[in-house]
Amino acid sequence: MINYSKQNITKKDISSVVRSLKEEFITTGPATELFEKNFKSKVRSKFAVSCSSGTAALQLALNSMNIKKGDVVILPVINFIASLNILELLKAKIYFADTDPITGQMLPKNLLDCIKKNKIKNIKAVITMYNGGDPLNAKAFFKLKKKYKFFLLEDACHALGGKYYSLGNHYVGSCKYSDISTFSFHPAKTLTTCEGGMVTTNNFKLFKIMKTLKNHGMLRKKSGKNKHNWKYKIIMPGYNFRLSDVNCTLGISQLKRLDKLVRSRRRIAKIYIENLKSLTNYLILPKVKMSRSAFHLFIVNFNLKKLKVNRDQIIQLLYKNNIATQVHYIPINSHPYYKKYSKIKLAGANSYFRSCLSLPLYPDLKKSQVNYICNKIKLLILKYKKI
Ligand SMILES: Cc1ncc(COP(=O)(O)O)c(C=O)c1O
Repeated sequence: MINYSKQNITKKDISSVVRSLKEEFITTGPATELFEKNFKSKVRSKFAVSCSSGTAALQLALNSMNIKKGDVVILPVINFIASLNILELLKAKIYFADTDPITGQMLPKNLLDCIKKNKIKNIKAVITMYNGGDPLNAKAFFKLKKKYKFFLLEDACHALGGKYYSLGNHYVGSCKYSDISTFSFHPAKTLTTCEGGMVTTNNFKLFKIMKTLKNHGMLRKKSGKNKHNWKYKIIMPGYNFRLSDVNCTLGISQLKRLDKLVRSRRRIAKIYIENLKSLTNYLILPKVKMSRSAFHLFIVNFNLKKLKVNRDQIIQLLYKNNIATQVHYIPINSHPYYKKYSKIKLAGANSYFRSCLSLPLYPDLKKSQVNYICNKIKLLILKYKKI
């Protein structure tokens, strides 16, 4: 079976993790500090806080912005469920924005439509999500942040290694266009720590809150040579969202080849595009600038009007050929728990959801496997196209 994603683990990763298990600290120690230091210097943000998952990163970010009951937060409806779940638990006033029908990303126009349609006055925060890994429209959202004075949180879990458009060499995570960026190190992502996450920011106040919240709200002075500072103070209620030194050691090792991992993804994306470009009557290929997208996903959109099968049938037909694809994502307002939001109809997102498919993409995917997948798609289209 060719899965849609797979982690990339090298011998060096393994030997560094084995070494880390023999260290004095296996929870929070020097590796955590070094991972954060290396991460922030890679993406060029002022601050970085590691944490136990991308979900924990979102929780830290939203708490640091003090999102509480009744605060207005807007997010795109094509999304991973984590941000919505947190907002629901925080009892925020949630609004969903529509997305582009091809990329599944919220457009600045979608955000403005959402504000106007719902007559929203005070927006506390907007969460953007670079579905697939392409940091589109970051600058335009930043302009809107300034105009409407909201916190801008980039859920950049798909975009590690991507670079902002119109900003030369700046990585997503530098927070040039946001207050906070969040990342996940789940095995499907650009780099992995098994489970893990990171927040970056240039705002010292937000950084301090996130750093404290992740460790029980605890403040502790370092021990000196002759003095053991065993006391600690709790200055806010917090969590244990720590990422262990063992996980961070894997992160340090993986981070060294971030650019290489992204290059591999881009190379595979190019092979897909080359192979499938003759089918553009039946499927729409991603129109991205190779040097910008992190290519977390390779998303195609089927032109269902020209096919006798729907997207779900296509998934099953590919699966029969040992190709496991995915859908990113089911609109988050359509899950059973969120039925109170299910009546909100967002045309762009619905069209995206019906037609989108994430094809397998990971650094170790072989050219022959990509050719195999493309051939199966070609045969499928040949068989099921409307004449
Ligand atoms: C866009 C997005 N946000 C948040 C998350 C949550 O990350 P994690 O699984 O590390 O909690 C994910 C992970 O799938 C994601 O893709």
